[in-house]
Amino acid sequence: MRSFLFLGTLRRTLAVGAAALAALTFTAGSALADGPRDARPHEGVVGGTPAQQGEFPWMVRLSMGCGGALYTQQIVLTAAHCVGGSGANTSITATAGVVDLNSSQAVKVKSTQVLQAPGYNGSGKDWALIKLARPVDQPTLKIADTDAYNNGTFTVAGWGADREGGSQQRNLLKATVPFVDDTACQQAYGNLIPGEEICAGYLDQGGVDTCQGDSGGPMFRKDGAGAWIQVGIVSWGQGCARPHYPGVYTEVSTFAAAIKSAAASLGG
Ligand code: ARG
Repeated sequence: MRSFLFLGTLRRTLAVGAAALAALTFTAGSALADGPRDARPHEGVVGGTPAQQGEFPWMVRLSMGCGGALYTQQIVLTAAHCVGGSGANTSITATAGVVDLNSSQAVKVKSTQVLQAPGYNGSGKDWALIKLARPVDQPTLKIADTDAYNNGTFTVAGWGADREGGSQQRNLLKATVPFVDDTACQQAYGNLIPGEEICAGYLDQGGVDTCQGDSGGPMFRKDGAGAWIQVGIVSWGQGCARPHYPGVYTEVSTFAAAIKSAAASLGG
């Protein structure tokens, strides 16, 4: 059974109320309890460097402790394991337009609806859409709708922990990670779902990876025209940045048509 960081976070948040949400913003450790997938309590991006203001303008931080990307100016693409289900939901705040979450320039918008991937049961299909109360005036990130870009070197970014056991970050971190093919990734993870998941990382060395709190954020690269295109969604891994345990990402191209129609059902 696959277990995600956020499920523990959600239970705790529901138990202790809104104060926990605020506390979650820059603390990981105890608040971000680990599931069985991760061997010990730990938690942005490991081995990363600060992103520049405006470098990834579609990056969004979600108040439950996840990342996301603007699919449209009013819809955030994130991970299914970051949300509790589908339906009306005004409990999530999206912070956009800044690398520094404490910046006075931060744009904060509440959610109105959540749409979790149809058929999501904790394995694979790790995507969800969050409709915002109003559009955010920032560029969007297009998603890959073919497997043509499921290779090469990817960029990841997030405000999650910068090492296993580390705290959530105030400033957005970024890193690049190479594609890991399904065969190699399955050697690490027997439960990989190759049609729905794509892996990335430095297999032998480790050292660079997404980590707890980066979930839901995008993994992206340049397309043939030099524009950023999203190929993955931060999903899971064994620990963070460990040798032989690459990061596992939702394979966006597999779900591109479903994401498109789900977004249309939310009214774009
Ligand atoms: N499930 C984690 C989260 O909720 C993401 C873990 C990513 N792990 C990795 N080794 N790439 O934030």
